[in-house]
Parts: sequence; C-alpha cells; structure tokens
Amino acid sequence: MKLDSMDGWERSDLSSDLSVDDIGKQVVLMGWVLRRRDHGGVIFVDLRDREGLVQVVFNPEFNEKAHEKAHVLRAEWVIAVSGEVFRRPADSENPDLPTGQIEVFVRHIKILNASEAPPFPLDDPCPPSDAVRYKYRYLDLRKLAGPRQNLLFRNKLNNTIREFLNSESFVDIETPFLTTSTPEGARDYLVPSRISPGSFYALPQSPQIFKQLLMVAGFERYYQIVRCFRDEDLRADRQPEFTQLDMETSFLEEERLFNIVERMMSLIFDRLMGLELRIPFDRLPFVEAIGRYGLDKPDVRFGLELVEISDILQDSQFAVFRTPLESGGIVKAIRVNNGDRLSRKDLDDLREFAAIYGGKGIAYARIKEGLEWQSPIAKFLAAEERSRIVERTGASVGDVILFAADSHKIVNDVLGNLRNFLAEKLNEIPNNTYKFIWITEFPMFEYDYEEKRFQAMHHPFTSPIMSDLELFTTDPGKIRARAYDLVLNGSEIGGGSMRIYRSDIQKMVFSALGIDDDQAEEKFGFLLDALKYGAPPHGGIAFGIDRMAAILTGSESIRDVIAFPKTQKAVCPLTGAPGEVAATQLKELGIKIIGRK
Ligand code: AMO
Ligand code: AMP
Repeated sequence: MKLDSMDGWERSDLSSDLSVDDIGKQVVLMGWVLRRRDHGGVIFVDLRDREGLVQVVFNPEFNEKAHEKAHVLRAEWVIAVSGEVFRRPADSENPDLPTGQIEVFVRHIKILNASEAPPFPLDDPCPPSDAVRYKYRYLDLRKLAGPRQNLLFRNKLNNTIREFLNSESFVDIETPFLTTSTPEGARDYLVPSRISPGSFYALPQSPQIFKQLLMVAGFERYYQIVRCFRDEDLRADRQPEFTQLDMETSFLEEERLFNIVERMMSLIFDRLMGLELRIPFDRLPFVEAIGRYGLDKPDVRFGLELVEISDILQDSQFAVFRTPLESGGIVKAIRVNNGDRLSRKDLDDLREFAAIYGGKGIAYARIKEGLEWQSPIAKFLAAEERSRIVERTGASVGDVILFAADSHKIVNDVLGNLRNFLAEKLNEIPNNTYKFIWITEFPMFEYDYEEKRFQAMHHPFTSPIMSDLELFTTDPGKIRARAYDLVLNGSEIGGGSMRIYRSDIQKMVFSALGIDDDQAEEKFGFLLDALKYGAPPHGGIAFGIDRMAAILTGSESIRDVIAFPKTQKAVCPLTGAPGEVAATQLKELGIKIIGRK
C-alpha cells in the first residue's frame, strides 16, 4: 500500500484540548489508531496522541473517500485526519473519556505509516509480562496510562527541583563519568582504556569526590541531576544505573541544609501532589530509630513500635530468651492490638518470616481475660516476668505480643521488617499520607566481621562529631558521624553528611579504616592534596530521584519510573545489553576473555 506524506499538514490541536467548546471547529489531528470499529457503514477510530484519545468518525455520508480509505486501518497505524468537531449523540457519550462528549467527523485522512500487529494489545489494561513489556518498551510507553505518566511526572519533578535550586543560587555543574573508583561501597562498573591498555576507568558510584573538589574550588552551592553506577545486587528499589539529585554546599551546617531540603520538598509536594508539608521534618538519632523501629529507615506512618524487655528476662528460666542475653544479645517485643486479626496460622508462619532475616523464630502470646497468657511459652516464664512484659508493652485484653530473642542485629532486622509486614497485612498504613523523617547521628564505622575491620558507614569523607574524636583510640565503633538520611514512608530517599575538610582528620579516619598513608595517597591523594589548599567547611546530600518518583507516583518498583530499565539480572531486554563484543575490539583493548559463567 502506498503511504501518504505530511504534505505540509500541521496539527491544529491535541486530542486532550478538544471539548464541547470546540463543536463546529475544523481541526487537524495526528496520532495512532488505538482501535477501529466498523459499525456497518460507519467506521469509528479511537485516535491516540501524546496527551489523550478522541473518537474520529468515518461516515460515507460525510466523506465517502475518507471512509473508503479507513477500511485498511489497523491498530497502531499512524494517521493524520482533518475534519470537524461534533457533539456525540446523547446515547453514545463516554463518561470515562475526557473527550467523551465529542467526536471528529473526518473529511480527509492521510495514512502516514502502517504498523505490524503489536506483540500485545495497547488497549488492554492488564500489562503483559515484564519480559515482553521491556523488550517492546516503546510500545509499553505509548500507552497513555502507566509508566508513561510516571515519566511525565518525573519530568515535572526535575523541573521543579531545578527551578527551586536555581532560585537558591545553586550551580549545575557536570562531573566526569570516566573516572576512578568512588567510595560508595558497591562494586564499580569498569571501562577499559584503549589508549592505556590494561588500565580502566571506573564509572562513578556518585560524584562525591568531584562535588567536594567543587567546594574547594569555591562554587559554594552545587547541584546536578546525574546518573550513578553501582554494580550491586538488585532489588525493587535498586538499579545498576540510577539518578541522583546530588547537592553540596559550603559554609553552612546541618540546620541550614535541612531547611533548604525541606523547602524544596514542600515546593515539590505543593506543585506535584497538591499537598502542604509540615516543616521542619521530625528528626531521630540513629540509635533511637533502631531502638524503636529496628531499622534505620523507619516508616513512621504507623505505630507498632518495638519495646526492649531484655532486663526483665535476664535471669529467666526460658533458655530461648535467656541464652541470647548471656551472649550480649537482646529480647524485644511488639504489641499488636486486636490480636484476633492474626490467626493461629499467621502466627505460626512468622517462624519462616524470621528465618528470612536470620532469626530462629518469633514467639507469641495472646493476652486474655485477667491478663492471662495464652501462649506456648507461657509455662516457661515466671508470673512476674509475664506481668512485667504486659506492663512494659502496654498490652491489654485481646492484644498479641510478639517476641524475638537473638543478637542486636538479628532482633532488630526481624522485628523491624515484621513491623512493616504487619502494618501492611493489618491495614495500619494510612492512604495518601507522606511522612518524612531525618535520621541523624549515624555511627561513623560499622564492623565488618568477615574482613575483621571497620568500614565507613556512609563514606570515608564524612566528618565525625568532633566531641567523639577521643573515641578514635578507645572505641571507634561508638564514634558518631555528622551523617544523615532522609526517609520517606520507610524508604531511604536521600543521604549525606558534613564532610571532613581538614587533612589531619581525614588521615585519622583513613587510619581507623585500615587505609595507610601510602594507600590513601594512591587512592585519594588528589582529594587529600585539595584539602591542603584552604578547603571550606562543606557538606551535602544526594537523593535517589528514581525512588522519590516511585513513591510519589505510587509505583511498586523504580523500574516503573525509568524509561528503559534493567531487569533483576542487570540486563536490558530491549537492547540485549550487556553483550559480547567483536574480537578486534577486545584485541585493541588488550583484553582476553578467559572464561564465561
Ligand atoms: P548514597 O549512597 O546514600 O549517598 O546514595 C544517595 C541516594 O541514592 C539512592 N540510591 C539508589 N537508587 C536506586 N538504585 C540504587 N542502586 C541506589 N543506590 C543509592 C538512594 C540513596 O539515598 N555521595 C553520597 C551522598 C552524599 O554524601 O552527599 C551518596 O551517594 O535513595
Ligand atoms: P521452640 O522451642 O523452638 O519450639 O520455640 C518455642 C517458641 O519460641 C516458638 O514459638 C518459636 O517460634 C519461638 N522462638 C524460637 N526461637 C526464638 C527466638 N530466637 N526468638 C523468639 N522466639 C523464638
């Protein structure tokens, strides 16, 4: 079939612009055929363009030639039509469609392109499998609802961020992608150098070092919406390449930085969500977050807080609780009101839940009339222990108390995640509620039991809290950092710190991390050098734009807010990346493949 060309036709309107106010208007529309319905003599086409849908009508009485031509149309063909806007007959109005009161009678049609039958129908509200969707992502994104809307949302999010930061004198500066390893704790993606065979660039895990150098360079307020690359195990909220809003500031401390961020979030919520945020956001030191919620990214939209009961059980006869305490562990409990909502089976299944996080089980007790315990463990606990637990947890008749006993880490992991799981299961999470919380005073270091050494909990350029400096020689695990995360609805959307700006303190931190002078010089010599030349006090933060967009659009995975995402295996189903390369390319790079998994 011969296709038409544009021949100077210009679109007059987007379908979404048309309404009953346009009745009688002559229009030119362009877009795709979503559906064609042949109603014996009259052909109806739902025409889709970037903004919406409108019904166009090919009526032989209105224009015979156009009607004749419309017979060949199939799903996803590309057409241009000119015609006139009519009010639909009352009985054929479509209240579900913004343009449902009108239709366009076609006088001329141009068939601009044909389409093969798409691999999945674009008018089916159920998405096909992820493998198919991502392979044909350009078709998936052509659908008006779903990820397409998320990308449009994300565009507005970026614009709002830029507008705000520009008005606050932040400067957008690009930093290199072909660089050396940056210390965010994940594996690097490496790029081999052809010009220096055997040498590799690393793609940045974040622009961390460069933004600090920009502070030394005196820019004072920097930002960038920038891609970061991390080779780590992927989950719903992690991609190998993801986007950060990266910020750095000089001559200000936590209070001012938090305020800038809070005002930015307020503008975003006002503009994009139509919601007013209450600022300042609440703050919670790390230790308290772990104590009350078990996790350093607590979802504070609901209660179900953790209560420590170790002291009550110190001398208990019940070995399941006492033994972990003897080896420095803890026992914590969660009280669930209206415990009938959890069946016997629900409670028994918790053992498997605990196992996911390394726990051995979750004991439970139902609190009955007279505060009696109905529980498999009741008989192992003294009456006084039981009554003190009831008192400590605030339990009353009808409640269930859940217990975990183990090391600090396991108990907090198990109960912290159980808390989120229960809130979901018991419908305790209020709809359309957004709760931000700053988590502050993170530990400077965490001990890596495998490698038997301290690791930086944030990154090694994070400033310790100066009053903790003396702990460097006595108890480095207790040093607190000037590091903070911003958590929204239980998701870590951002993290940052005030930085070390003195080379003597930077060296202390490197040495606590087991990085000696030579290694420090080799890895970060250029940063240590820069710190010698009048580095201003500085600090910043980076936000996961994908995560923010996912939460604000109510998406389950950050893949839904990314145009061309990768799968759990870090593969792009559309392009097939990563792929093999030509032998000549490898030769040029001086690389030999010694084996494939
Ligand atoms: P951090 O490593 O905490 O800090 O990263 C900042 C934010 O980026 C998001 N994020 C991710 N999003 C999607 N996929 C991933 N794989 C992924 N990894 C991280 C998270 C996280 O809070 N340079 C420091 C910031 C600073 O100190 O200023 C940094 O990168 O939302
Ligand atoms: P068991 O003696 O293993 O049958 O455990 C008795 C009860 O204690 C069961 O409900 C287990 O799920 C629970 N339990 C076992 N280990 C732990 C633990 N470490 N913390 C809390 N409860 C546990």
